[in-house]
Amino acid sequence: MKNKEFENLVDTSDEWIVQRTGIRERHIAAEGETTADLGEKAARAAMADAGVTVDDIDLIILATSTPNNTFPATAVEIQERLGMRHGAAFDTQAVCSGFIFALTNADQYIRTGFAKRILVIGAETFSRILDWSDRTTCVLFGDGAGAVVVEAAEGEGAISDRGILTAHLRSDGSHKSKLYVDGGPSSTQTVGYLRMEGKEVFRHATGMIADVIEAAYAATGLSSEDIDWFVPHQANKRIIDASAKKLGISPEKVVLTVDRHGNTSAASIPLALCEAVSDGRIKRGDLVLLEAMGGGFTWGSVLLRW
Ligand code: ACO
Repeated sequence: MKNKEFENLVDTSDEWIVQRTGIRERHIAAEGETTADLGEKAARAAMADAGVTVDDIDLIILATSTPNNTFPATAVEIQERLGMRHGAAFDTQAVCSGFIFALTNADQYIRTGFAKRILVIGAETFSRILDWSDRTTCVLFGDGAGAVVVEAAEGEGAISDRGILTAHLRSDGSHKSKLYVDGGPSSTQTVGYLRMEGKEVFRHATGMIADVIEAAYAATGLSSEDIDWFVPHQANKRIIDASAKKLGISPEKVVLTVDRHGNTSAASIPLALCEAVSDGRIKRGDLVLLEAMGGGFTWGSVLLRW
């Protein structure tokens, strides 16, 4: 769905959306198409790319804020569709930071030996929780899904190891009313619509992003100069540019998809990763920095060697 199409729905323009957000188009799930549909496709693609089958997977973690149903977890639905009858599957919810939270979960399960191979999926249908008459939010979001397979391997305990080198998660519920959905099973018995104080989110975003990236640098002794690729959550090009500038990450290292995907919440990082891996930018051994900030507020970073 291109920006122009919004001009028939609300008082907006392609020019305003591009200038304030960098978004040119986003994808909207077809009628009847669900988060499980998108997540299943991403999961199958990730397993094919990793050369594994569902028999090799012992855990599925799905990051989503737009589940098919209040329960069961959409991860269980995807598990069933993949024909997986062993192991476990569950959803995790940290809005736009969801993929970072899910990946950090996976890393912890791998490190403790609880699981050997984990399918981590970010899948969203934010179009279903948008108020399509609110120009301050409806132009910003899109639908999508991405997935990775995380596998246990022996390392040297050094920063030359492949895999997740360090992960940092934060949340602060005092900001909960700045970005939320005004419904839920326990409060209103409705699904509700996304509400956001965009300026307030913007004001906090770069500081929070820098906070968790600096934590990743402190934990590893690495710096922005060492990073090969910066794959941020794709909410707004201005936030991404400002964060990269603040941290001294050069623009050619930044993977940008927000222009074509909009903000797909928990799906945005795996979608961007997929694009940069598929087109040959991210190569085995590259140092890749992921970060996200979203509703809660929640924020986090993962520094990994591909
Ligand atoms: N088209 C035209 N005008 C608009 C639109 C639109 N789509 N939306 C808002 N406006 C108007 C406003 O009404 C306002 O008009 P006014 O001055 O007459 O009151 C004017 O544009 C300026 O609005 P601001 O909100 O001040 O615009 P700003 O430059 O802050 O940009 C934006 C708004 C893009 C939302 C920005 O604040 C932003 O990106 N914030 C961060 C949002 C974000 O990243 N959220 C996702 C977080 S991740 C998650 O967890 C979901």
